[in-house]
Amino acid sequence: MPLPPLDTIPSEVVSLDDYEALARGRIEPGAWAYLAGAAADEITLRENRAAFERLKLCPRIFQDLTAASTRLSLFGREYAHPVFIAPTAFHRLFHPGGELATVLGASAMEACMTVSTQAGTAIEEIARAATVPPWFQLYIQPDRGFTAELVKRVEAAGCSAIVVTADAPLHGLRNREQRAAFRVPPGLEPVNLRGMEPVPPADRIFGSHLLARAPTWRDLAWLGSLTNLPIVLKGVLDPGDALLAESHGVSGIIVSNHGGRTLDTVPAAIEALPAIASALEGQLPIFLDGGIRRGTDVLKALALGASAVMVGRPVLHGLAAAGATGVAHVLKILRTELEIAMALTGRATLPAIDRSVLWSL
Ligand code: FNR
Repeated sequence: MPLPPLDTIPSEVVSLDDYEALARGRIEPGAWAYLAGAAADEITLRENRAAFERLKLCPRIFQDLTAASTRLSLFGREYAHPVFIAPTAFHRLFHPGGELATVLGASAMEACMTVSTQAGTAIEEIARAATVPPWFQLYIQPDRGFTAELVKRVEAAGCSAIVVTADAPLHGLRNREQRAAFRVPPGLEPVNLRGMEPVPPADRIFGSHLLARAPTWRDLAWLGSLTNLPIVLKGVLDPGDALLAESHGVSGIIVSNHGGRTLDTVPAAIEALPAIASALEGQLPIFLDGGIRRGTDVLKALALGASAVMVGRPVLHGLAAAGATGVAHVLKILRTELEIAMALTGRATLPAIDRSVLWSL
């Protein structure tokens, strides 16, 4: 039996890795395989961490930090810091409070939460509980009419951006999850998709309905015609795709390999970032997710061209460990680590962070 969530955080829990260890005993083994696992041999999953570890920072001394701030402005809104919550499915797998506990923790730390299409809580309820208007992650559904209605709902709920995930038109084969025979438990469902014709499972990939209705660039243009909300395209690794995204009118992109969960052996997100930043020449804000576990990782991503980062698994670790308190603490740790890293590399503000933050041999 998994342990219950904690009411107070033990004082020896001081890093995101500590939270991972704390969460593990509190999550049922199948759900743990779903959370921790990634596609196939999990090479990309490991690379997401290893690539950050290979990058070194350059400390700077005696800089004036009196006006230090992590604030940033995006799509006409002010954000207190550049640590956003990546969309992840079914938070009630990890804590009875589900997405409502997550958004409470996020709000305490002035963080923007991206709510998954596969959330187990209605988007209206989550948006009502948020102090920072959430973003909504959209999987364009085979039923485009339903998708259009969902976009209207999300807009009416007060979400401030739509994140369109492009890198998962079908499930990657996550062997760890397959071996654990993980199934979403009865009673947990993607409630925001209620009323939609269910998509029948397919016993093959090619020639099945799965690919026939998978979204293409045309659908992105169509989506843009439905909403005034900024559209942020998630799952870009190729600079050519980043340029196509720009020419299709998106407001931003997320450099991401889905936490290694879709196609194994693609590069780490942080490795893909420089070429994308150089192709886009500052025309679009870039976000990055995958492997962010330290404030120094956030700084490295900003140094290589990201405006902000997103965090996936660690938020769920915090949630499983101690509900909203755990989520808030995970975000607080990252934010504090970022501030320390900025101070010790002599950067008072986010615009002052550039490639010279990195040690070059
Ligand atoms: C995800 N991710 C994800 N992405 C998305 O666009 N829609 C979704 O519903 C989900 N669901 C989901 C569930 C779980 C359990 C995980 C771990 C991940 C991917 C997520 O948004 C993000 O890209 C990665 O999690 C980032 O990597 P880290 O921070 O987990 O290393």
